[in-house]
Amino acid sequence: MQIVILDTPEQVANYGADRFADQLKHKPDSVLGLATGSTPIALYNALIARVQRGELSFAKARTFNLDEYLGLAGTHLQSYRYFMNEHLFRHLDIDLANTAVPDGATEEPLAACDAYEAAIKAAGGIDLQLLGIGRNGHIGFNEPSSSLASRTRVKTLTPDTVKANQRFFEAGEFQPHLSITMGIGTIMEARQILLLATGEGKAAAVRATVEGPLAARCPASILQMHPKATLVLDRAAASQLEDVAFYQYIEQENQRLPGV
Ligand code: GLP
Repeated sequence: MQIVILDTPEQVANYGADRFADQLKHKPDSVLGLATGSTPIALYNALIARVQRGELSFAKARTFNLDEYLGLAGTHLQSYRYFMNEHLFRHLDIDLANTAVPDGATEEPLAACDAYEAAIKAAGGIDLQLLGIGRNGHIGFNEPSSSLASRTRVKTLTPDTVKANQRFFEAGEFQPHLSITMGIGTIMEARQILLLATGEGKAAAVRATVEGPLAARCPASILQMHPKATLVLDRAAASQLEDVAFYQYIEQENQRLPGV
């Protein structure tokens, strides 16, 4: 794992935007894996600014989102499809037909999960997958105890995750406890993975991911097994790591050896 520690959330977002821009310049028809949550918003804003300045194009790109609430149609304000349209897609030069989010309104969730897997495969697999991380170490909606080999499927959210995401829902509004999420095995097939984490609330999950054992208890710890995973952290999210000086030393060395 490459561990990049930066001073501010803004630097984390810009670092992430640079990685996406490099990917698209190198391969304009890249297949991108995208995420929701508050963490990626600044990165999405940075990408939008680059597209609007004419520096970057998503015209040939395809995207697959990690997850969706089961029970919410894409028109629902709290659905992840709506989030992606509002925060990213409608500001880009991307063809909406080339953007995929699991169908939260499906009547046949199991078939929809299989179809999502098949669509990723048919697109040639994901080149670069963006991830956030839950406070309990979840990635997508793969909660602790998820099989580390899991595929796209229906998952029950933990009460903590429901509570953490309650801030997006109105009081009394229906909030799903079920989701469709790419599996951990699905995520691990991406050629490169970029996980962003900011703020002290993520520090324990980041520590378990980087320095804890490989364990279903912290789903993100599977990234220890990925050959090209980068964690981009601000100081607060990195604050519980024991070996910060070592990670910074490695990064300095990496900059002296471009392309490594
Ligand atoms: C949700 C999403 C995850 C996301 C997590 C953290 O549970 N399913 O993909 O990483 O929230 O979100 P935030 O970035 O808002 O902390």
